[in-house]
Amino acid sequence: MKSMDGYSPIIVKDSDDILLLDQRILPQKKEYLKAVDLDDFVYAIREMVVRGAPLIGIVAAFGYYVAIRDAGSKKEIKIRARKAKEKLSRSRPTAVNLFYALDIMEKTLNEKIDILPSEKLKKKLRAVAFGLWESQKEEDLAIASNGVEFFKDKETILTHCNTGSLATGGIGTALGIIKMLFKKGSLKMVYVDETRPYLQGARLTAFELSNEGIPYKIITDNTAGLLIAKGMVDGVVVGADRIAANGDVANKIGTYMVALAAKQNNVDFVVAAPESTIDRDIKDGSEIVIEQRSEDEVLNCGKCRIAPGDAHALHYGFDITPSYLISAIITQKKIYRQPYEF
Ligand code: MRU
Repeated sequence: MKSMDGYSPIIVKDSDDILLLDQRILPQKKEYLKAVDLDDFVYAIREMVVRGAPLIGIVAAFGYYVAIRDAGSKKEIKIRARKAKEKLSRSRPTAVNLFYALDIMEKTLNEKIDILPSEKLKKKLRAVAFGLWESQKEEDLAIASNGVEFFKDKETILTHCNTGSLATGGIGTALGIIKMLFKKGSLKMVYVDETRPYLQGARLTAFELSNEGIPYKIITDNTAGLLIAKGMVDGVVVGADRIAANGDVANKIGTYMVALAAKQNNVDFVVAAPESTIDRDIKDGSEIVIEQRSEDEVLNCGKCRIAPGDAHALHYGFDITPSYLISAIITQKKIYRQPYEF
């Protein structure tokens, strides 16, 4: 597997400058934005400079650290940290990893604030943000080996959205499985849903597969059903933004339709995600808040208007796939099967 140094979604320089790869303009341009204060991090998450559930969490943790980095007193650290958690929590609602990472940062702060001097406390929070990133890299590898065990000799896999290095900072979750399957030798073709309207598939997944030398074809989202029905797909693997306690899964809009087509045609539909994406506090998918984004993202394609001037759009960013459509949920720990008990 190629190193992802060429397109790491975050770079932390020795100077402590934090650079975020602007995924809105990939693959045409590779540009990093320097995030210098809390608002830069909030902007980067909300406007999808960075995206993908695990990466959103990692970036939020770095944002939390940056927010307190220059604080003078402990009192100021506390005030800034509270504000950081509030603002970052409001940036995007669906991916639970954002809240998971912020809770860890806050817990660390609360545990250490009376024990450590300010500068050591800041260093500790920086280390915790790095720790989240490092753990994600390890979890991705474990998810990939569990995924390879599940898919074994499969030759054609379909995926939706982008769940690779750009979404996790490691090798990826669902895309990590695809990368490892290819390395093991069985995989011959990946069908990549373009993933309207942000085109995570056509732009980002295609970019990663091309970098890895893995054969792929981009399909329009509405082609998935046809390929599955024609027997051209051996298995489907996607990521998740939040998994409810009963196994219902929130993932990128369009996932549900793929799951329906897979079920109808007896093709395995698999979800790959770290354990941190499981929200045990939520009974089922009906409790998951689904992000609604600007209608402009649907009415325009990039900078080009495609709908009539007076048109309106309804733009849900995610949908819920009920657990009965899901053959397996693969985490770093194990391959869960129905009925889902985490
Ligand atoms: O809106 P995005 O691009 O953040 O949505 C990303 C997805 O839906 C991914 O499938 C999910 O976050 C898993 S990423 C490993």
